[in-house]
Amino acid sequence: MLFVWPLANYHSFKISRSASELYEVRTIDDARKVSGFDKFLILGDGTNTIFIDDYDGVIVKSCISGVDCQAQDEGWYIRVGAQENWHRFVTWTLNENIRGLENLVLIPGSVGAAPVQNIGAYGVEVSQYIKTVEAVHLATGQQHTLTNHQCDFSYRDSIFKRQPGAWLITHVNFFIPKSWQPNLSYPALAELNTETSVTAQSIADKVIAIRSSKLPDPARLPNAGSFFKNPLVSVEHYQQLIGSFPDLIAFKQNTGYKLAAGWLIEHLGLKGACCGDCCVHDKQALVLVNQGHATGGDVLALCRLIQQRVEHAFGVMLEPEVRMVGHGGLIHDVSHYP
Ligand code: EPU
Repeated sequence: MLFVWPLANYHSFKISRSASELYEVRTIDDARKVSGFDKFLILGDGTNTIFIDDYDGVIVKSCISGVDCQAQDEGWYIRVGAQENWHRFVTWTLNENIRGLENLVLIPGSVGAAPVQNIGAYGVEVSQYIKTVEAVHLATGQQHTLTNHQCDFSYRDSIFKRQPGAWLITHVNFFIPKSWQPNLSYPALAELNTETSVTAQSIADKVIAIRSSKLPDPARLPNAGSFFKNPLVSVEHYQQLIGSFPDLIAFKQNTGYKLAAGWLIEHLGLKGACCGDCCVHDKQALVLVNQGHATGGDVLALCRLIQQRVEHAFGVMLEPEVRMVGHGGLIHDVSHYP
């Protein structure tokens, strides 16, 4: 197999790897043809995917664009093509005085990728505003409109993420109610509470300021956002940990506690640690960055080092949040990848 399609500009981590071919989906018929490929990988803007090796298959990109907005008494119904850029879409809603998505401003990536990993930030998850997702079921070639319930959303997860390659998302349908309530539940936004007239735009401005101060701009310092998920531990496990680490940062959930993985990594002194040119970001330890010439091997080595150190110290196995792609496709188990 020849690797003729350079991928450095197709993923924000910018490792110079290649794929066999690139296929652009512009119509539903184009989407149906994808199931005929031996091996393929559906890619949005590549801001949550790292190509570790040359990929022996076809990269499929949805090139369906357009924003169609219907205002009703109760709220806005907005149908958006998968290719549209997420941040530009959020900015457009705010300019139209449509309030609700402001906490999710500046998240990199495409609208079509947003439901896949149920993007979230500062107390809001996109699933709260998704009414349905239109997708082609590749095994049958049929178009489906999946309800929010059928998407089976959870923390950074959905049916689309759990069944990779099964669905090709063409459009996302949002419902944004007119009755707006600011979401200031995230500690970093709490200071806005003191303002009498908090607006969606002032929340967006604050989120942009926080994100810009902590998270590296992929255009300047290549990265793929949070590298690991924040792990969920049982109440008993949390109680043991807090006994030993009173400063531990954790958030209560229905079934236990979600630990701030960035805190775990920072506490082990790993901020700024590098394997080759892949390093732990010095302002947000949950983000790994490419200092220039990182290789797939560097990424895997740093990932394993962090996992081992965190497991040894806290008894928690960190699970990657990014998608890593090897020669044969998605890497499901980093410890067994050559
Ligand atoms: N923290 C540290 N050290 C660090 C990083 C974080 O002590 O190096 C502490 C912070 O001080 C804070 C807590 O951990 O008390 C949480 O940190 P932060 O607010 O930065 O958020 P996060 O849990 O590390 C998650 C998302 C981000 C999202 C932010 C804000 C995941 C995997 N990541 O990060 O999403 O922007 O919350 O809501 O859930 C992404 O998915 O790519 C992403 C950037």
